[in-house]
Parts: sequence; C-alpha cells; structure tokens
Amino acid sequence: MKRIGVLTSGGDSPGMNAAVRAVVRKAIFHNVEIYGVYGGYAGLISGNIKKLELGSVGDIIHRGGTMLYSARCEEFKTKEGQQKGIEQLKKHGIDGLVVIGGDGSYRGAKALTEQGFPCAGVPGTIDNDINGTQYTIGFDTALNTVIDAIDKIRDTATSHERTFIIEVMGRDAGDIALWAGLAGGAETILIPEVGYDIQEIKTRLIKGHERGKKHSIIVVAEGVCSGVEFAKQVKEVTDFDTRVSVLGHIQRGGSPTAFDRVLASRLGARAVELLLEGKGGRAVGVQNNNVVDTHFEEVFNMKHEIDTDLYKLSQELSI
Ligand code: F6P
Repeated sequence: MKRIGVLTSGGDSPGMNAAVRAVVRKAIFHNVEIYGVYGGYAGLISGNIKKLELGSVGDIIHRGGTMLYSARCEEFKTKEGQQKGIEQLKKHGIDGLVVIGGDGSYRGAKALTEQGFPCAGVPGTIDNDINGTQYTIGFDTALNTVIDAIDKIRDTATSHERTFIIEVMGRDAGDIALWAGLAGGAETILIPEVGYDIQEIKTRLIKGHERGKKHSIIVVAEGVCSGVEFAKQVKEVTDFDTRVSVLGHIQRGGSPTAFDRVLASRLGARAVELLLEGKGGRAVGVQNNNVVDTHFEEVFNMKHEIDTDLYKLSQELSI
C-alpha cells in the first residue's frame, strides 16, 4: 500500500483532529503517502481530496472539531454513491482508507470494503455507542463538558431550591447521561435503554425534599424524551419549581481531554498499521487498555449495551 486516504464523517467529536494527526504521521513514518478527504463521504463523492504533509496536521492535537470537516451524506448510502467514491479514490491512486466516525460512517466503510476497497474504522463519536471498543474518541471530553455544566447548574439550583432537568445528547445510547449523571451526583438519570416510572421519580424527589435537599438534578438523555417534555411530566405530579437546560451541541465542541488525545493517537496509528498489514474491513478499539480490532460485521452484529452495574450503582448512590 503506497497511498492512504483519511476522512472524518458523521457528528464530529473532540479528538478527531488528534486521530487525523496520528493517521497522517504514522503513514508518513512508514513512507506511505497520505491524502485527506474533506467533508466526509460527500467530499469523497465530489473528489475534495488533497495530499497531506507532516506540517498539515501541526497545531491541531488540542483542537476540537475536525480539520477535514464532516457531513452526513445520504447519497453515500446508495451503491451508486459508493461507486463514485471508489472512482475518486482510484483516480487519486489511493489504495486504502481510514474512516473516523460513528456507526453510520462504519457502514460506509464496510460497504467500500465489500466492493473491494479496504477501509479501517476509527471510533469517533461522543455517544460511546460503538461496539468493539470500550471508549470512543470524544466521549471523555463530552462527559467533562456535561459535568462542568451540571456543577454550575447545581449552584443556582441550590440558591433557588429548584429541580433542574438537564437534557444531554444520546439518541440511542445513554452513556453520556449515565456517566455524567453519576459523576455529577444527579438524583435521577433517564436513559433510552431503561424505562422510567414517573411515580417512582416523584417519590424520590419528595423524599429528598423532606430530608432537606435544596435542589434536585435530573439528567435525561435526548433519546428518552426532550427535557421540556419531561419537565411537564414532573410538574404534573409535583409542585416543585422546575427549570430545563438543554446542553445541545456544546457537548460536541472543545479541546479534547488528555484521555481522548491519547486514545485518538493510539487508535489512529493502529488503523494505518491494519491497512499496511492488509487487514481492511476492521475497526480499531480499546479493551482493558489494549488496542484491539474487530471485523465490521461483528461490530454491527453486537448490540450496544449499557453498563448495568454502573446504572445500578447510580441508583444506589442517589437514594
Ligand atoms: O452521534 C452524535 C450526536 O451528537 C448525537 O448524540 C446527537 O443525537 C446527534 O449527533 C446530533 O446530530 P446533528 O448534529 O446532526 O444534529
């Protein structure tokens, strides 16, 4: 393999830049040329592809977002779109592609590999919902952003003796809500993987109030329902003064934590190695602090599970 491409796709995540840097530098270390595909799969279809040098990725390890830009691309879900992408890659003499992104991005990478173009996947999403890795790039940074917000909201919640509902990202996965709720000391955490009982939440709120608690923090993952919708339900069953904070895309930005930078560097570099070893069609990840790789097929066959022990613990500690 003499020439590799790299792209970022789907929702961006802090640490994607560190991963791009690792891919570029690792490829050049092995005397392989490296090309950046700008704008995700949409950029691949339109041929927005440029050669990258060592200096192209200087001064980005600490920056959020992605220097390669990102997109969600409907056309690439079709065989025609994928063929256009392969034509562009061939036109540029590229023999393998590193795809940094989440679930949808991996599906594109799997499709290209099945059509004879080897790809390696690097898990970049704040959601932490990719199988084959315990942690995705950006999750830790997003968590810290959410915790910072919870801490600040807690201050004002206490002053005004209010109940706050904090809506965090996670359409299908509750990892952000669970981890941030636990780390932020939330009384109630609502995640898409587990149902909830409003009467039980009411009892918990009242019990807390009776033992002198000055505030309540409820963290709700967007996949359960909107914060505004949940606040309505709380107001129907209690007379607590309630406010809602929707954290939104603030969770996707910011300088990556040390954890995310190190993870991104390890995984980006390993993805290049995989392609050089002729092992396309696999996604890199980390398990028990070891870098591992998993066939795309297996990644999709496994169901993302929430850490049930952590969920149980969060309930036990918020009585
Ligand atoms: O997949 C990452 C994510 O941030 C989800 O948590 C969120 O639901 C979604 O992307 C938002 O996507 P968009 O930025 O396209 O609205």
